[in-house]
This record gives sequence, structure tokens and C-alpha cells, in this order.
Amino acid sequence: MRPQLKNFIEAIGKDAIAIIPAAHEVTRSYDTEFKFHQDPDFYYLTGFPEPDAIAVVDPANKKNPYTLFVRPRDPLMETWYGRREGTAGAVKNYKADKALPIEKFESELAKMVNGHEKLYYRFGVDQKLDQQILSYISTQRFRRLKTAYPPHTIVDPITLIHEMRLHKTEEEVELMQKSADIAADAHILAMQSAKPGMNESQIEAIIEHHFRMNGAASVAYNSIIGGGANATILHYVENNAELKDGELILIDAGAHYKGYASDITRTFPVNGRFTKPQREVYDIVLDVEIACLEATKKGNTIKQRHELSIELLTEGMKKLGLLKGKTKDLIKKKKFMKYYMHGVGHYLGLDTHDAGRYFTDQKAKNSRPFEAGMVLTVEPGLYIPPDDKDAPAKYRGIGIRIEDDVLVTEDGNVNLTAKCPKQAEEIEEIMNAGKAKSANK
Ligand code: GLY
Ligand code: MN
Ligand code: MN
Repeated sequence: MRPQLKNFIEAIGKDAIAIIPAAHEVTRSYDTEFKFHQDPDFYYLTGFPEPDAIAVVDPANKKNPYTLFVRPRDPLMETWYGRREGTAGAVKNYKADKALPIEKFESELAKMVNGHEKLYYRFGVDQKLDQQILSYISTQRFRRLKTAYPPHTIVDPITLIHEMRLHKTEEEVELMQKSADIAADAHILAMQSAKPGMNESQIEAIIEHHFRMNGAASVAYNSIIGGGANATILHYVENNAELKDGELILIDAGAHYKGYASDITRTFPVNGRFTKPQREVYDIVLDVEIACLEATKKGNTIKQRHELSIELLTEGMKKLGLLKGKTKDLIKKKKFMKYYMHGVGHYLGLDTHDAGRYFTDQKAKNSRPFEAGMVLTVEPGLYIPPDDKDAPAKYRGIGIRIEDDVLVTEDGNVNLTAKCPKQAEEIEEIMNAGKAKSANK
């Protein structure tokens, strides 16, 4: 049994039972599906990669605390749609104590759940399963005084699972480091490959080719490859414009490796040399990024870090002539939001925007201090719209974000994406190394 599942079993206790479903395939069009993506909570507990499965976790059941309902083996279906583990594979390869065909789930439900005080199940995600569970509960309640005893408390297991996911184990950190390394190398490759006249889509292809060639199953999210003013669109994913001489390119791309996401942004000049105005904006963002990375450590809160990014970027906006006035007033009136409109980072893990609470008190919105084992991104940016009449002309259309992935430790932090260069000189050196060599030949 995976340690994650063991911890979950201990956490829910012996009077509880949990029902945790896998994801289903999603139709893309008619009879074709999107590439399957396992539900990260189910994956975290079970590691089982197939759709349509259900895990039933019953801590008091000494013989079979972990039952997995799976798609049964089926030669015809497997010829058409791919191999299945079946019940034997679920036990042998995924360490289920017992496995049954998924078709048996409904008829087994009452037998499994009756007698438990608490049911851990999240309503509102899987309609078919919701119906099965509701129908079980209503049927049993009418029988309650005779033979049945359905749970009187239903608890959403996600809070518990997400709290576990938030604190990464050593094994998880290793996988995240690998995911980060793959993404960092892909960004370096993009720096070495970019030149005027190429298309954003070609840079996307270079990055994603590297991901796949190095063991990543896919991207962690749709890559953002924005040349010139496309970099000022936060979620630009069209990635189909020509890269022009004299412009910057912003790349926000991360790998999905053995379930774990990396999330890196780098911004660099298409032709290998920053112009003076580009460099002025770039160095402001870089200094803020470094300060916020440094502030990502135990004891500091997420809110403090975000406020630091706002303060430093507002100062930077004043320096560039984008804003005028007292920093305090500009912050109070949220003037910075015209050029910096997103948060400075998020949790990272199985999901790109990973699980876990951001507040110690959800209602009062008290910000949560960083704790060892959390992985977060740090990603300040400045985005100056191309048609912004208030901005000095030389800065219009510049969009810059710099993003790293950071592990909080007991005594500081580890930048998982440190190998990806971000100092302007380093970037220029990498981009021009090949050119110098060929010119010397
Ligand atoms: N790439 C998504 C993000 O940076 O949050
Ligand atoms: Mn990103
Ligand atoms: Mn991010």
C-alpha cells in the first residue's frame, strides 16, 4: 500500500469508510476523447492510472482495508481501446487488497458501507456515483430500524487529502525536481533556438518535444508562447504568430512528469540582445522575483509575499514612469493592477495550481504561513499594453514574467528551477554562444 493511502487510512479512523472515484474519459468530439488525465486526488492515494475506477477504503476491515473497483479485462475492448489492468492487475501491480469489476460496485455498496458512522465522499463531482450513493442512503434509511445502519455523517475527504498533498514527501520532491529539470532544459533549448522569423508554434514544438523525449507524459498546462505584445495577454495560448526582430518572447511552460507539474516562465529577446528599455523593465521584474523567492520561507505568509511583490513592482512602475504619486496611495488605490494584475504565485504539485488551503481561517481570510514541504511558484510580472497612452512609448507592448518553483524547507528554501538562467547577461550568453562559434569558423 502507498504511504499516502496508509496515512489517509490512519487519518479517517476506524469508524469511517471512504469512497474515492477515478476520473472518466472526456469526449473531444463524437467518438474521440481527450487524452485521459487521472483525477489527482485519486492518483495521489492509489497511483492507479485507469479511468472509471473507484477506491473504497475501510480502515476497520482487517483483511481488505483497500478495495479497488476497476474495468474488467475484455479482449474486444482492449483490442480497440487499450490494455486494462483488470482485477488481477489491480491487486498485483497496484497493491489493492481486493479488486472487483466496476459493475459490481452498486450491488456491493450497502454491504460495504452499512455499519460505519462516517462516510467520506465528495458530492458534486461524479453525478452517476452521487445518484448511486444517494439511492443507497435513502433506501437504507427506511430500513434503519430493522437491519441496516447507514452512516449518519458524510464528510468531504478533499480537505484531508489536499492537506496531505500540500506537504510533499521526499519521493514527491524528487519527482518534482525531475519535472523541473525537464522544463528548465526545455526553456534553455528555446533560448538557444529562437530567432527572428520563427513562429511561436515552432518554439512550442521544441519545448514540448523536449518534454516528451525526456519522459514527461505531457505539458502540465497549455504552454504560453507569446512574442511581442502577445506577452501582455496573461493566458495567451494561440501560439501562432511570427517572432520579430527586436521583440521579447515570454514562455510559460511546464512538464507533467509522473503526475507532477513544473511551471516555469522566462522572457528573453528573440534576437538574443535586450534593448535598453526592455532591459529596464526586465531588471525590475527580476529584482522583485529574487526578493519574493527569498521571502518564500517558513514563517512568512503568502499575503506578505504578495504584498512585497506589489510594493516593489509599484516602486518599479514609478521608476519607469508608468505611475506617478506616493507608493502608499498607488497601492491603496490599486493603481498597480493596470500593469500587475495577478498573484505572485501558487502551490504546485500534482496540479499546476495545486491543492491546499491558502488561509488559516477561511472566513476571516487570514493568510497561511509557509511550512516546510510546501512547493510554490514565484512569478511576478509587468505587462504594458501596446495601446497604453499613459506609458512611455518605449515601454508599450512589453510583457515580462519570470517564474520559478520553490520548495520551502526547515531552514530556508530550494529553488527547484535554479538551473534555468534568468539574469539578462546569462540569457544573452546562452543565446549567442552558438552564433559566436559559427562566426569564428
Ligand atoms: N502557467 C500557469 C501559471 O503560471 O499559473
Ligand atoms: Mn506559469
Ligand atoms: Mn504559475
